[in-house]
Amino acid sequence: MAIAKRTFDVVVVGAGGSGMRAALHLAQAGLKVAVLSKVFPTRSHTVAAQGGIAASLGNVSEDNWHWHMYDTVKGSDYLGDQDAIEFMCRAAPEVVYELEHFGMPFDRLDSGKIYQRPFGGHMQDYGKNPVQRACAAADRTGHAMLHTLYQQNVKANTNFFVEWMALDLIRDEEGDVLGVTALEIETGEVMMFAARATLLATGGAGRIFHSSTNAFINTGDGLGMAARAGIPLEDMEFFQFHPTGVYGAGVLITEGVRGEGGYLVNKEGERFMPKYAPNAKDLASRDVVSRAMTIEINEGRGAGPHNDHVMLKLDHLGEDVIRQRLPGIREIALKFAHVDPAKSPIPVVPTAHYMMGGIPTNYHGQVVAPYKTGPDEVVRGLYAVGECACVSVHGANRLGCNSLLDLLVFGREAARQIIEDLKNNPHPKPLPSDAAERPLSRLSRLDHQRDGERVAEVGEAMRRTMQKHCGVFRFPELLKEGVDEIVAVSERASHTEIRDKSRVFNTARIEALELDNLIEVAKATMISAEARKESRGAHAREDYPERDDENWLRHSLFFSEGNRLDYKPVRLKPLSVDSFPLKARVY
Ligand code: FUM
Repeated sequence: MAIAKRTFDVVVVGAGGSGMRAALHLAQAGLKVAVLSKVFPTRSHTVAAQGGIAASLGNVSEDNWHWHMYDTVKGSDYLGDQDAIEFMCRAAPEVVYELEHFGMPFDRLDSGKIYQRPFGGHMQDYGKNPVQRACAAADRTGHAMLHTLYQQNVKANTNFFVEWMALDLIRDEEGDVLGVTALEIETGEVMMFAARATLLATGGAGRIFHSSTNAFINTGDGLGMAARAGIPLEDMEFFQFHPTGVYGAGVLITEGVRGEGGYLVNKEGERFMPKYAPNAKDLASRDVVSRAMTIEINEGRGAGPHNDHVMLKLDHLGEDVIRQRLPGIREIALKFAHVDPAKSPIPVVPTAHYMMGGIPTNYHGQVVAPYKTGPDEVVRGLYAVGECACVSVHGANRLGCNSLLDLLVFGREAARQIIEDLKNNPHPKPLPSDAAERPLSRLSRLDHQRDGERVAEVGEAMRRTMQKHCGVFRFPELLKEGVDEIVAVSERASHTEIRDKSRVFNTARIEALELDNLIEVAKATMISAEARKESRGAHAREDYPERDDENWLRHSLFFSEGNRLDYKPVRLKPLSVDSFPLKARVY
């Protein structure tokens, strides 16, 4: 079967914040850039980011990049690579001002400067007092950012392929990545996108869990593509549960609510966070707050008829603050929790939110992974940024607002690195003759399998398994059973078939293809979690409650083939300053 081919300098997979920031830099440099997106670009999941972008502008309270770096290293529970963290925190003010100049409608202080609010784990003076570091556009910062970047990309002539799903990487015998295969959702047409550089910016995979703040499109597509191409996934055991998802719906209620002065209460109306984090209280880092909430619920102090959630109180902020600073939250509370937050608290529960792990990269966005039996090396032609990448700046736990920052800093840096690398690579390599073989055989299996598994049932089994066996607290028996179950679910996923081909053909196909990606992420998460015998950041084990730096201060690498794990050291040495020494993490 003849497959059409189009050739670009760079193909970017994903049109969220990191993909669009990179595409903009590349297109402005005169490169021919294709951006593939499953949805219209401004519907990418970055649109749902609410609270802000972390940057030490110091517009409201004194701040500097070194304090920001300290908070990020501490927030990561010392698993973050300190060279990458320094790089990110130093670049933060510049990328925010750039965005301002692109037209981003930030909220303003009376002075005209960008408004900044407090956020979890953002502190002054190496952990002493809360600082206002989150640069915000009300509680719709991601929305404003995505529209700003999209408009700039249109101006720069980026080529958008809307409602196209990337299927697989095209990788040759030498391990070089030469582009991707992709499917047009409307027509079912498969095409090869040949490129001298391929940038994965496909976002997260929160949909491996039953209850998630993530959009339905967050199916770990880049991670699935990487895993099938033999690239390991790093630190997948670290999955962040955001403290405040709306109970029963999962929709995000920004930490900015607590930044503006809201706080959590249990069924007695008791404000409980001071018990767990006497200094930072409700603005401790997310893993700490989610664990405290879970303990309150498990010890019988949860609210509601089933005592299974807690309440977020913000009525004392007053109608004006809520309408001006948190208008989106007001709408979400009314629609999904049926409460007016100016009058009643919002029922909330820790909800799967963010994947700290991902495709291993250095801080230039180059994918770094062993090929065949060789040592760790840069995979020529392949880059990854944003939530699908593990740089690693978030380590074992990400601080709020460092994700939008990560998208901007590493989106721009990966683009800069691509431009540099392409100077030495002026001609595209020929595609291998079997370039489209893998996706075509997956599609053929879906279309022709008989008596296969139903995609919806396998997906449900995966989500239930992850939710039960790999949550806020992790238990040895549950993890062991979870590994067996997820391996069995993964086997079932390799026998899915599409039924009802006549009516919903491509929608069903897309869901089946997405499941192939989700299952890679779920398997990596469960197996890596079972193997890590310590508690660190978001990975809290009942049987190993302490952090164990002697044995576990290392990154995990999960290889899909053989469900195998390997480990590599954490980069403790920053670029220009002294390392932050390891110490106990208290808030
Ligand atoms: O709470 C929030 O607004 C989420 C922000 C983030 O995940 O960084």
